[in-house]
Amino acid sequence: MTKEIDQLIANFRPPAFPGSYFISFEGIEGAGKSTQIIQTQRYLESLNFRVLVLREPGGTSFGEKLRKAILESNSPIHPVAEMHLFASSRAQLLHEVTLKELAVPGTIIIYDRYIDSTIAYQGMGRGLGIEAVLKTHQSFPLTLVPHLTLYIAIGLNTSHLRQNKRQIPKDYFERQGNDFYQKLIDGYEKSHELFPERVFKIDGEKDESFVFEEIKRAVHHLIERVR
Ligand code: TYD
Repeated sequence: MTKEIDQLIANFRPPAFPGSYFISFEGIEGAGKSTQIIQTQRYLESLNFRVLVLREPGGTSFGEKLRKAILESNSPIHPVAEMHLFASSRAQLLHEVTLKELAVPGTIIIYDRYIDSTIAYQGMGRGLGIEAVLKTHQSFPLTLVPHLTLYIAIGLNTSHLRQNKRQIPKDYFERQGNDFYQKLIDGYEKSHELFPERVFKIDGEKDESFVFEEIKRAVHHLIERVR
């Protein structure tokens, strides 16, 4: 790790609201994020937390417009423009929703994708580099990172098999080829390396119940550690 990346990383912090937590889910298409997010939400509610699930990009009326601008674009968007669109949607969602809701004690905010998606997709997939992504996130509120990131890791084959089973029209990123997906995996691995305390990697090749047990283990560790 270069000194410069070290310095950039040192500026990131989880939000500090007693009794409230910020968690994100990450992984390439087919990792099983959606199913696990629903189960995790139910489980945390059964522990008496107030749980809100937010998706990136989107979650605010401004963010939903940006989501459409990116995911429904028929022409290629320049990687730098793309990165700033995602960061822009993120800053607005943090300001408008996340920070306000976390101020209510006993709240857990779950993000379906966060900064590690930008590291994987724009940093590695689009080739902007990880440093460029970290630099774009140096102003508050973009310096906020989750207490815990659940990275569900799968390989290229599993991603293809699960995407083919779904048979829904492919969006902007899903149309990309193998090289792109391999870069996403490399990007997530790099995130895991750069943020070892925050990013918890789970073997998503295993079945749903194994993945969920791992999630519960990580969540308990967080709640007991911070309390
Ligand atoms: P979405 O339909 O939410 O995908 P998924 O169900 O796989 O989460 O679309 C979000 C897409 O945007 C997804 O392909 C990943 C991509 N993305 C980025 O490229 N950079 C980012 O910073 C974020 C948050 C998402």
